[in-house]
Amino acid sequence: MHQDNIDFYRPKLHFTPEKNWMNDPNGLVWHKGEYHLFYQHNPFGTEWGHMSWGHAVSTDLLNWKHLDVAIFEDEDGAIFSGSAVSNGDEIVAIYTRHSEGNQSQCIALSKDDGRTFTKFENNPVLDLGMADFRDPKVFRYKDHWIMAVVKPHEHICEFYKSVNLIDWEYLSGFGPAAATGGVWECPDLFPLSFNGEELWVLLISLNPGAIRNGTGTQYFVGDFDGTTFTPRYSTQEPRWLDFGRDNYAGVTFNNEPNSRRIFIGWMSNWQNIGQRPATAWTNALTIPRELGLKELGGEVVLTQIPICEPTYEISIDATKKSRSGLTGFVELGYDPVTKEIFLEDFSVEVEPINNQVNLKVIVDNTSVELFTSDGSRWITLAIFPALGVTRELTHFG
Ligand code: FRU
Repeated sequence: MHQDNIDFYRPKLHFTPEKNWMNDPNGLVWHKGEYHLFYQHNPFGTEWGHMSWGHAVSTDLLNWKHLDVAIFEDEDGAIFSGSAVSNGDEIVAIYTRHSEGNQSQCIALSKDDGRTFTKFENNPVLDLGMADFRDPKVFRYKDHWIMAVVKPHEHICEFYKSVNLIDWEYLSGFGPAAATGGVWECPDLFPLSFNGEELWVLLISLNPGAIRNGTGTQYFVGDFDGTTFTPRYSTQEPRWLDFGRDNYAGVTFNNEPNSRRIFIGWMSNWQNIGQRPATAWTNALTIPRELGLKELGGEVVLTQIPICEPTYEISIDATKKSRSGLTGFVELGYDPVTKEIFLEDFSVEVEPINNQVNLKVIVDNTSVELFTSDGSRWITLAIFPALGVTRELTHFG
């Protein structure tokens, strides 16, 4: 591999594994002063395989320290996606064990702040005898735990409850709903307050069947009564969390100390995974984004505000045919005819305010995240320019 590639393509702002393959973020949890980021990882190569949980920690969500692999694949199966909870003292990881013909939910315990995990001896803790049943997201609810977990082909997200993370009782199922043109994966359910009211957001990743029939994440805004999730709006049409190609399997942190709801997605996709220059690592994660709600077009919609300063802020006069571009890297801007903002050939309609469209951009060595200033519309793309291309923003009109 070329040293050139390593220096040119390694992101500066975004998380990448030190080396080898990464897909979904897993086990996002704050525990004793550290944000823990686990991730789907192949410890042995730059392609998907031998799924295990890689591990890194941070105090600010931007500067990460790489740690040893936390949970290894073993003779019982691979370690697929899942979540982690902290009781203040210990961390428990809840993951899917994947073997030929079976996916079931398992737990592992860490008594040393996530540095090492011991798999529970009586795993699995939830097994329906199904080939596809995965991606448990566990969170605290009142005096017990709740798990959201999907039956991917049935397009159902199921909810279970437990007091000890070992015995799980079925509560309800949600779906099929909205987009069902691919498997449902990586659910997350969490509350957000809006105008003094508590609303619940359900995230469901979908592969394929999202924007351009690619991988993507849809969300539902609704209510959760401890048993059942009920969407507030029609589920005929999907609401997309991102209108780009490269934001998949994103989930949020448990235990965030400032009560923020922080989301991180996998900044890649399952469609064109092979089309990139060789690097020592494969794939990056999105910038961490704080989620919120706002009213837009008669609905309460999800907003995402990055936890870092944007690289560029652009104010566009929506009455003119004006554009902005990143030379040689990617084109972005606003088209007043279609009323769409665009990044490369991905686009989404936005409503100008006082004839202005205010955009922000986070540019890194292999990605561009374009979003409206209010955080309501995002287009995320992983892009690999030819060696030597600059990433400077130029305006042209
Ligand atoms: C999503 C996913 C999950 C699964 C993991 C395997 O990208 O397919 O459903 O747990 O990746 O690596």
